[in-house]
Amino acid sequence: MSYIVTASSGHLGGLIVDALLARGAAPDSVVATARDTAKIQAFADRGITTATLDYSKPETIASAIGAGDTVILVSSDAVGQRLEQHSAVVDAAKAAGAARIIYTSAPKADDTALILAPDHKATEEYIAASGVPFTFLRNGWYTENYAGEVAKGRDSGEITASVGEGRVASASRKDYAEAAAAAALDESTTGKTYELSGDSAWNWNELAETISGIVGTPVVYRALTPEEHAAQLASFGLDEGTVGFVVALDGNIRDGLLEATSGDLTALIGRPTTPLAEGLAAAQ
Ligand SMILES: NC(=O)c1ccc[n+]([C@@H]2O[C@H](COP(=O)([O-])OP(=O)(O)OC[C@H]3O[C@@H](n4cnc5c(N)ncnc54)[C@H](OP(=O)(O)O)[C@@H]3O)[C@@H](O)[C@H]2O)c1
Repeated sequence: MSYIVTASSGHLGGLIVDALLARGAAPDSVVATARDTAKIQAFADRGITTATLDYSKPETIASAIGAGDTVILVSSDAVGQRLEQHSAVVDAAKAAGAARIIYTSAPKADDTALILAPDHKATEEYIAASGVPFTFLRNGWYTENYAGEVAKGRDSGEITASVGEGRVASASRKDYAEAAAAAALDESTTGKTYELSGDSAWNWNELAETISGIVGTPVVYRALTPEEHAAQLASFGLDEGTVGFVVALDGNIRDGLLEATSGDLTALIGRPTTPLAEGLAAAQ
């Protein structure tokens, strides 16, 4: 029985492999997978088994998963194809007789207006209907999503967004990765859904203050209306679809959809989540 980690060429998947080993998984029980194993050669160099697993190539998924395995399914980044890709992994896990699927989902995936949630809700439903035992890890926002704001604050003295007074309970990818490893190594998490997020939720004035502390010069938050935000993004050359997506996401934050602090993440990893300042500084 092995721990099969998907998308381990990505940030989260790679950190999950590291976290499994750090939390005591036997090195020969961990299989790092990616659609291109050249990208995970560093794991092979450390003696970790690697395998090809491409969400869009069912034959690769079937050969990577065996009976009794725990599959840690990191959600795909191919928005629009995700349900089909995730379903292929679920089908293969079921056919192989996998012990469990651990899926990285989104906050309150089954009951939220979050623009990114529909794929996650549909994937959760597909997994639940498959009969394969599961654990849903509804990951909140990564602190690293805001790493780029540090440079903006440094260069212009301001950060802009249309989030109003909205708050985000972000945590570092490493925190979420540790949660995935902890869930994989603890059978009692089977059948449970966790709402994972940082211990505290910050707003954009606090983000600006934090960035100011990192760059050493004053940084302020300038609130934009959604219309001003859309015009600003278009002036940067972003296409219409991306502009609409970013403005809608800021609307979701304004509406409080990413501010919940359930404590589930700290409980799973057994330590406080990484504070915003520390997470942002580490991402520079
Ligand atoms: N909660 C948040 O704030 C947040 C933010 C961004 C994304 N996400 C979600 O969380 C996931 C993990 O985040 P991350 O930071 O690790 O993203 P990332 O570093 O961009 O990694 C994405 C991973 O998905 C892999 N992938 C894409 N298509 C694939 C396919 N057909 N078969 C197998 N693997 C495929 C990529 O493989 P390659 O290396 O071959 O490209 C890469 O390993 C993302 O995919 C996205 O669904 C969450």
